[in-house]
Amino acid sequence: MSGGDKLDFEIRPNPAPVSAADRAALLANPGFGRVFTDHMVTIRYADGKGWYDARVEARAPIPMDPASAVLHYAQEIFEGMKAYRAADGGVTMFRPYANAARFNASGARMAMPPLPEETFVNSLHRLIEVDREWIPDVEDGSLYLRPFMFASEVFLGVRPANEYLYAVIASPVGAYFAGGVKPVTVWVSSEYTRAAPGGTGAAKCGGNYAASLAAQAEALQHGCDQVVFLDAVERRFVDELGGMNVFFVYDDGSVATPPLTGTILPGITRESVLTLAAQAGHRVEERPVTFADWQADAASGRLREVFACGTAAVITPIGRVRFSEGEFTIGGGEPGTVTMALRQQLVDLQRGRAADPHNWVHRVL
Ligand SMILES: Cc1ncc(COP(=O)(O)O)c(C=O)c1O
Repeated sequence: MSGGDKLDFEIRPNPAPVSAADRAALLANPGFGRVFTDHMVTIRYADGKGWYDARVEARAPIPMDPASAVLHYAQEIFEGMKAYRAADGGVTMFRPYANAARFNASGARMAMPPLPEETFVNSLHRLIEVDREWIPDVEDGSLYLRPFMFASEVFLGVRPANEYLYAVIASPVGAYFAGGVKPVTVWVSSEYTRAAPGGTGAAKCGGNYAASLAAQAEALQHGCDQVVFLDAVERRFVDELGGMNVFFVYDDGSVATPPLTGTILPGITRESVLTLAAQAGHRVEERPVTFADWQADAASGRLREVFACGTAAVITPIGRVRFSEGEFTIGGGEPGTVTMALRQQLVDLQRGRAADPHNWVHRVL
């Protein structure tokens, strides 16, 4: 059936799920991205046929022909989002239709077919329903959902594939940065860039992350948690971190973040923070910020706080910045009050503990 809006999922329960005792042991300290649930979603696509064979089945290796297009030309996209245990014991997601829209925007850039937003969100519902016992019940715990799609056609020609596999796997997670909310140190790369104008920077495609790994490795070698990328043309403007957007908080109460010019990922957390900060009375600006200004404003004290934001790490203060010529701190390396207030607001919203005037919280169960 083409279209896919009304796609029904065949549920094939895992005949050998992890035992309750083993699951409890895994959930006690899941870390990030290492533990997986019992099931996965798969949906197939073929040109002329559309989306078909939607299933929830036992999580298992995906058999793949060595000539599958994705293994050669990296035609692949993904999303990252979380399901939360709500205060009343139910289950929620945060703005899943925003992820669905971004998934299709990424797909369009990578010449891949759109998946109806309703099918995307339904696929998450079906997986959460069967694997609901895997949602950690601890503070800061959640079920990380990873929808992805790749070119499965067996063909070595360089052109958009005509067969795809969409899948969703789920991973119970604790806090992204070990040790709770403490300021991280970032490395500003002068050697590597992430995305050029006209490139794929705004798409959530695996290739962007492959290209960021040498820079991330360099960051780790310098004792930093994450890499910061500057723009590819002038190497002056701050783009984003390897896996997060960045915000600057000034002494006049204004809050700034780099604009969406096509080279950074349009983060859903970023967009939410812009709204929450404006609501809290901050002047919010989407404007270019140079690394030179970042340094000068940190030195003068005009820049009070800097934070990174994204689904995985929520909002994380940046306390120290290292680069090839030196390093500096922001706000004495301590978490800032605006950062922590925004974080609390966002977390309370996501956990169903705060009013939700924008209808961002999506009920699953
Ligand atoms: C490169 C990059 N930037 C920003 C983000 C933040 O996006 P979001 O807030 O939608 O998770 C992510 C994480 O998904 C990312 O990988």
